[in-house]
Amino acid sequence: MIQNLKRIRDGQKDSLATKNLVPNQSVYGEELLQLEDEEYRLWNPLRSKLSTAILLGAKTIPELYQKKIIYLGASHGTTVSHVSDLVGNDGLIFAVEFSGRAAREFVAKCSSRKNIIPIVEDARTFWAYRGIFGRVDVVYCDIAQPDQTKIAISNCKAYLNIGGTLMLIVKARSIDVAENPNTIFQQEESLLSNSGFLILEKIDLSPFHKAHLLIIAKYQGS
Ligand SMILES: C[S@@+](CC[C@H](N)C(=O)[O-])C[C@H]1O[C@@H](n2cnc3c(N)ncnc32)[C@H](O)[C@@H]1O
Repeated sequence: MIQNLKRIRDGQKDSLATKNLVPNQSVYGEELLQLEDEEYRLWNPLRSKLSTAILLGAKTIPELYQKKIIYLGASHGTTVSHVSDLVGNDGLIFAVEFSGRAAREFVAKCSSRKNIIPIVEDARTFWAYRGIFGRVDVVYCDIAQPDQTKIAISNCKAYLNIGGTLMLIVKARSIDVAENPNTIFQQEESLLSNSGFLILEKIDLSPFHKAHLLIIAKYQGS
């Protein structure tokens, strides 16, 4: 069971919701729900790959409550805002995004969430944010780049605790549009296994997110 997260039966389908860290505030137009006297934010699987993975039954998502996380590819802050609910006031998210435009929108939407530290940098130049934090418990990477796995690995080597968790969204089409996604997934998995990671679980995110795989892996050091 993940702290600050609820699974709701909504007619024939299940939905997820996270306990709102900033009551009365919706971040991107999501519905606010009153559940057992506490406010929750509906977490749409079509808007967030992490939500999809949990809904599809991922078993090894680490507990995020009070944890320190590097989030690569913050974009407009949709998923980051839910991770902010999950880590709570005593957790911290270092949210890296290299697009100035996306980062501006993200900062505007999430400014009242004190557990998010925005970092406007390219995750390839991971040393640029060396001074900002020490080691973290989790690296989450969703950057849709051809070298996405290498970028995730270099950030883990620099910042992830040994024994910490990498959650890597592999977008096959960003690596090679013509190749069979399963071939790409195997190739990226091998890259992780050969770089000091133990693969814990792979969750195919289709049909919500076509040709996307979430790989959850434990960092064992190199
Ligand atoms: C698929 S979107 C992320 C969606 C977001 N994770 C969510 O669920 O709300 C990918 C984001 O990664 C950012 N990005 C891509 N390459 C990056 C890099 N090298 N460094 C930092 N951000 C990057 C893009 O600008 C884009 O906003």
